[in-house]
Amino acid sequence: MLKTRFTELVGIEYPIMCGGMFQVGRAELCAAVSEAGGLGTITSATQGDPENLRQEIRKVKELTDKPFAVNLSLFPSSRPLPNEEYIDVLIEEGVKIVETSGRSPKDLMQKLKSGGIIVIHKVANAKNAISAENAGVDAVSVVGFETGGHPGMNDIGSIVLTKLVTDAVSVPVLGGGGFSTGQSLVAAMALGAEGVVMGTRFMAVKESILHQNVKNWMINASEAETAIVQKSIGSGSRVALNEVAKEVLKLEERGTTFEELLPLITGKRAPKVYFDGEINAGIWSCGQVVGLINDVPTTKELIDRIVQEAVDSRNFINHAFETKHEASVSER
Ligand SMILES: Cc1cc2nc3c(=O)[nH]c(=O)nc-3n(C[C@H](O)[C@H](O)[C@H](O)COP(=O)(O)O)c2cc1C
Repeated sequence: MLKTRFTELVGIEYPIMCGGMFQVGRAELCAAVSEAGGLGTITSATQGDPENLRQEIRKVKELTDKPFAVNLSLFPSSRPLPNEEYIDVLIEEGVKIVETSGRSPKDLMQKLKSGGIIVIHKVANAKNAISAENAGVDAVSVVGFETGGHPGMNDIGSIVLTKLVTDAVSVPVLGGGGFSTGQSLVAAMALGAEGVVMGTRFMAVKESILHQNVKNWMINASEAETAIVQKSIGSGSRVALNEVAKEVLKLEERGTTFEELLPLITGKRAPKVYFDGEINAGIWSCGQVVGLINDVPTTKELIDRIVQEAVDSRNFINHAFETKHEASVSER
């Protein structure tokens, strides 16, 4: 058990959340994370409509009776998502935790709170953390530059951002973007965070539905094999540096339009990557921690390992402080 205000808030054992992952965050992975003591998440946008979301929630509930979250995407979209209807389903199904991202959840807070739902909101700067806190969210998570998926537009790394956000708000904060180990969990906590939100690392676990080719690619990839695409259209996204991502970067360097990019960046291509294992079939989200991934453990093995690494790191740090103390005492 590793107790923080975040674990107390959502009722879990370890302060490790698997954030929403479009197409990837399905019931099996979500339940595996929650069963292992973390907080699993399914992603409403993946489900397409409220009834499918209801079925996916029921699937999670068949697999675990531990707390889990549902991600609501508030990103601007050409086809607006039925988030109000999704919330009705969440309330009917007794879902207790929501993760929001993309823009402030302010206009949905009354509805979410009337259903007794805990809201964790993702932010890419301290200003948005303060307005989310003022809107009544219960926790915020940080989206640093290293993240898989959408970082903010200002290229601020997680160490700086986590500290800025923990200084700015009083609700519990999760470090996010680049966290995958117990050492990084301890680092986040040293910055005042009360846990971490991880995505990329959870793509390469046994319970993730991704094709083995994708998991193998991740094991072999270095930390330099991701890139931020779509910055030219105001929607930066960190993805695996495959052939399509290279083509997108070339077009963006030359100067391009959304219409020209769309056939390459469309999310419709991702299933071919994720489920058919065609690595170069489209762009797909992947964070810099891919360089730290060397295996495909079960989710429980991963979470147990992170907790053990966190304990070892704490001992390492304690030892350093004690050694320093002894040295300074003997010098006197
Ligand atoms: C494949 C993938 C898909 C993601 N999709 C979403 C999403 O739909 N909504 C969201 O809020 N965050 C999404 N994220 C971000 C994660 O929830 C999490 O914040 C992020 O992965 C943490 O950084 P890390 O990848 O360095 O661990 C996605 C991340 C990945 C890797």
